[in-house]
Amino acid sequence: MPNTRLVIFGATGDLTRRFLVPALYRLHRVGLLDPNLQIVIYARRPLTLESFLNGMEQALREAGKDMSAWGEFARRFVAYVQGGLDAEGVRQLRDWIEADAVFYLALPPGLFAEAAEYLAAAGLHHEHHGTRRLVIEKPFGQDLQSARQLQQRVSRHWREEQVFRIDHYLGKETVQNILVFRFANLLLESLWNRNYVDYVQITAAETAGVEDRSGYYDQSGALRDMVQNHLMQLFTLTAMEPPPCLDADALRSEKVKVLQCVRPVPQNAVGAFAVRGQYTRGKVEGVEAPGYLEEPGVSPNSTTETYAALKLYVDNWRWQGVPFYLRTGKRLSAERSEIAVQFKSAPVHLFRQTPLDRLEPNCFVFEMKPAEAMELVAQAKAVGLEMRARRIVLRACYREADEEGFEAYETLLLSILQGDRSYFLRFDEVEMAWAVLDPVLRAWQTQSVPMAFYPAGSDGPREAERILDSPTHRWRALRGEHTDV
Ligand code: BG6
Repeated sequence: MPNTRLVIFGATGDLTRRFLVPALYRLHRVGLLDPNLQIVIYARRPLTLESFLNGMEQALREAGKDMSAWGEFARRFVAYVQGGLDAEGVRQLRDWIEADAVFYLALPPGLFAEAAEYLAAAGLHHEHHGTRRLVIEKPFGQDLQSARQLQQRVSRHWREEQVFRIDHYLGKETVQNILVFRFANLLLESLWNRNYVDYVQITAAETAGVEDRSGYYDQSGALRDMVQNHLMQLFTLTAMEPPPCLDADALRSEKVKVLQCVRPVPQNAVGAFAVRGQYTRGKVEGVEAPGYLEEPGVSPNSTTETYAALKLYVDNWRWQGVPFYLRTGKRLSAERSEIAVQFKSAPVHLFRQTPLDRLEPNCFVFEMKPAEAMELVAQAKAVGLEMRARRIVLRACYREADEEGFEAYETLLLSILQGDRSYFLRFDEVEMAWAVLDPVLRAWQTQSVPMAFYPAGSDGPREAERILDSPTHRWRALRGEHTDV
């Protein structure tokens, strides 16, 4: 059987060292990589295959990986092709491609279009002798217009079925679990609508700052870096209708339908729907942290947001009137990613004039970080003679301590190699997500919405409360909610 070749572009970058090679190595170790898969490295730096592999081996050792299968794994790497992003360089790859091939663009976003074009100019997109797949990392574009331009350049040569657009959140098992838990159980689905849900809150909070990515981040900001892709995916998976089957297109069409129903953020009232913030100096988990403007590589008068909060409405039968609050930020008080579905209050006439009169409504939480768990917040009688309620939390960990799951890049690489597009973005999905954010991006660019500042180590700017619809709505505490009323 002819070999399948995986060509990694930009292979000396951070993504390859931190995510791609570790993921491929793990898949190899557990016997999930096709024995015929061989890897070709394409990079600008003048290295030999041996020195490249030494670097990768060292990085894996430092990460504490079991290296017993390294020797065998390293034999999968068949070439280090040195070349720039130009026609001549890319043409060299023709010598290394026989049949099926995957081209993984682990490159800065500004180079995606050129790489796709040079590959096509070398004829490497033709599927005469096997399948040809193109993997494009995020972000796909910087806004609606640039995403469309990028798509135009890619689709001139590559069919949609050949293109795998990455959003690593879709490779997370806890994110895939949203679908399973929602649609494999009767319990919640009947309550998952405007009749019972008061609001939904989606959070991706990080304690880290921009680290060594200020060059990219300062041009991007939280809305582009996290909301347009990861948070939008969590949002559509939470709000979508059950797809007729698990076929990639059926699934993606349902997500697109949600985006089509999103009420456009009014250009003249963006401030009522979105808040942007930037961290100032503070303490994160007890450690002094600089302000964003003091971070190395950040322009001292940067107006890039490190925090974004957004309110969306989905105008369809299921969700009309239910706000979806999305927020994300760097240097916040805790690492927390979750989707919290806050139900309406129970009609508690029965308990009038008793301490039970003010009962906390139910809340269902998909927690992705810090733990992988699901939680139902409910009320039960407190122990004792008095008729008092106590908040109880029914919590189930998604993974047992001795169960080793798969990391996002492991799942995604395997899907690419198997040709399963379910957990990759279709262009209309990317386009609709940009369209939803377009009014916000425009307002922020023209500075018509002021920046809110928050100290590093806090839960974000107070101004985020401005977009909440009702005094009974509130942002959940990032360090966790109390356990008693
Ligand atoms: C990336 C963003 O896509 O996702 C980073 O570019 C962010 O800024 C990261 O830190 C978060 O991913 P995870 O898997 O750690 O939640």
